[in-house]
Amino acid sequence: MKVRTTVEAMRAAARVARLGGLRVGLVPTMGALHDGHLWLVRAAKAQCEAVVVSIFVNPLQFGPNEDLAKYPRTFERDCELLRKEDVNFVFAPTVEEIYPEKATTYVTVEGLSGRLCGKSRPGHFRGVTTVVAKLFNIVQPHLAFLGQKDAAQVAIIRRMVRDLNFGVEIIACPIVREFDGLAMSSRNAYLTPQERKSALVLYRGLQEVQRRFDEGKRDPKALSEVGKDVIAKETGVRLDYFEIVDPDSLEAVDVVDRVALAAVAAFVGSTRLIDNVLLSPEHCK
Ligand code: PAJ
Repeated sequence: MKVRTTVEAMRAAARVARLGGLRVGLVPTMGALHDGHLWLVRAAKAQCEAVVVSIFVNPLQFGPNEDLAKYPRTFERDCELLRKEDVNFVFAPTVEEIYPEKATTYVTVEGLSGRLCGKSRPGHFRGVTTVVAKLFNIVQPHLAFLGQKDAAQVAIIRRMVRDLNFGVEIIACPIVREFDGLAMSSRNAYLTPQERKSALVLYRGLQEVQRRFDEGKRDPKALSEVGKDVIAKETGVRLDYFEIVDPDSLEAVDVVDRVALAAVAAFVGSTRLIDNVLLSPEHCK
C-alpha cells in the first residue's frame, strides 16, 4: 500500500494505473475508519483492480461552531486497517495541499444543498461537493464508492456528476450498523455510555416509521410525526429533522407511492447524528 500526500504524486499514480488498464476505484473518507468505511473499501476491491482511499478532514464542510478541531484523527490506525484490506493507495493530503492560498472556486449543487442537513448546516454540502470534485479530478476514478448512511450526500454528488459530466460512476453501499442497530459513524466516538444508549432512538424512530409504512400508512406527514414522537420521548436527544423525501431530489413527497427516503438528524447531547431508511412500496405485502 502506497501513501501519497501531494496532488501531483496521487494524480501520477492514478494515471499509471489507468493507462495500465486497471479499473480505478475511489473511496473518499475523512478517516477515523470503522466498519462502515471498510465495507466501502471491500466493495471497491471487489470491482476495481486499483483502489484509492482518500483520508482528508475537509475544513470546508464544517461550520464555524462545528467539530473540525476535535474530529477524530487516527491516521496510523487507519493505514493499518487499509493495509489489511489490501488497498493500493492512500491519498492523505494536507489542508494546504488541497486548498492553496487564494483558492476561490467552489462547486455548489443548487437546491439540493439546502435540503435535509443543508438546512441546519449552511455551506456543508458546498464543502463536500467542492472537495469531492477535486478528488475526482485528481484521481479520475472509474468508480467512486459512497455510503447510503449519508443519503443526501449521495444524491447531491450524483447530481454534480451528472450536471458537470464527470466520467465516474457512483456506487452507493448499504448502511453498516452496530450490533444493536446504531449506524456506524466516526462521531459515535464522542458519545458517553449514556448517550450511546440514547442514540439508538434514531434507528428506533426509523423502524417505527418503517413498521407503520409496512402496515399501509402512506401519508408522509403522518409518517414523519410517528418518527418525531419516538425521538421526543428520549431525554437528552434534540431533533433536527425527521423528513420523508424523494431520494433523488430530496424534496418532500405528497404521498409515498414510490421509493422514499425517511431521514433523521438529531443531537444526542452535543453530538449530531444522522440515519435513514428507504421506504419501498414494492416490498410491502
Ligand atoms: P466520512 O464521514 O468519513 O464518510 C466516508 C464515507 O463512508 C461516506 O461515503 C459515508 O457515507 C460512508 N459511511 C460512513 N458511515 C457509514 C456506515 N455506517 N455505513 C455505510 N457507509 C458509511 O462522508 C464523508 O466522510 C465526507 O463528506 C467525504 C465524502 C469524504 C467528503 O469530505
